[in-house]
Amino acid sequence: TDFRWFIFLGLTVLSIFGINPTIDYYSNYFGKDNYSNNPEKLSEIQNLKDKSLTLGLDLQGGIHMVLELDLVDLLINLVNDEESMAGHFLHILHGKTPSDLHRKVMDVSLILYAEHEFNASTFTARVCASTMSDIHSCVVAAIGSLRGPLHGGANEKAMELIENWKSKDEAKSNVLEMLDNKEKIMGFGHAVYSIRDPRNAVIKEYAKQLSELADDNTLYQVADEVEKVMADEKNMFANADFFHAPAYFYMGIPTKLFTPIFVMSRVSGWTAHCMEQRANNRIIRPSAEYTGVESSDWIDIADRS
Ligand code: COA
Repeated sequence: TDFRWFIFLGLTVLSIFGINPTIDYYSNYFGKDNYSNNPEKLSEIQNLKDKSLTLGLDLQGGIHMVLELDLVDLLINLVNDEESMAGHFLHILHGKTPSDLHRKVMDVSLILYAEHEFNASTFTARVCASTMSDIHSCVVAAIGSLRGPLHGGANEKAMELIENWKSKDEAKSNVLEMLDNKEKIMGFGHAVYSIRDPRNAVIKEYAKQLSELADDNTLYQVADEVEKVMADEKNMFANADFFHAPAYFYMGIPTKLFTPIFVMSRVSGWTAHCMEQRANNRIIRPSAEYTGVESSDWIDIADRS
């Protein structure tokens, strides 16, 4: 997984230096933008908006490139008549027209993930924007925060957990064991919400619909059981990431793409925040309150233990 993240991050980092293989790869399809080869221009506020609009497509291109690198013998046809980003993404991923339900679920998922106030990755992006850095750097910084399992990486971790369980009973006893061991169950809890995450009901309903059309709905049943156990045992609720795992699974999306898809969507929120930050910019530089010892004696380096 790390290798693929390196490629993904690498593509974005390269673009900071004016090398944008993703845009080159897609240029025939989407057209070249005017800023990728001129990082200086990117730090001008009037150009942020233009570039922000193409970043979602750049990232979508990046995700497909990672997939192609993984499946080198697969020829990907980039041209289709899909009208939405969701439809285009699924069409390229599976090489065929997605069902109306799949297109709808992906569309809803991209909307749910697009923006969420001052979450960790958005804050990271805004700090970077506040230094007058360029938009690519802001997005790279944000990706670094989002990929962590306590933030956007939770959807992949939730999937890795629930796919191990073959029945509701097995899921229940394993979750109880994990809670006894003080382990966290990824996809539960929220830093700001205290009663429920309103996004969960939306994606859960779609995960249910998708599972009813699948040959085997065990994964949904298991996820539903884990949600009940977490409510009973810890009074904790599923966040937006948890039921994304079965929803994406039933749409045939490989787990390694879960968090990159989150990035593809959240880039719209990040870049909107960067524009807002720069419209009235002041560097974000918190101060820290030192609470350690007031003073201590100097010890020569040779005498230190
Ligand atoms: N599973 C089990 N216990 C959890 C938990 C989870 N997912 N999330 C929090 N807890 C427990 C902690 O162990 C801690 O218990 P303690 O007081 O006995 O030590 C308590 O709840 C408070 O946890 P804390 O991590 O301090 O809460 P927070 O508000 O700072 O963190 C999250 C919020 C989202 C980081 C946290 O709930 C979490 O790590 N969730 C899992 C990752 C995830 O799904 N992230 C996506 C968020 S949208």
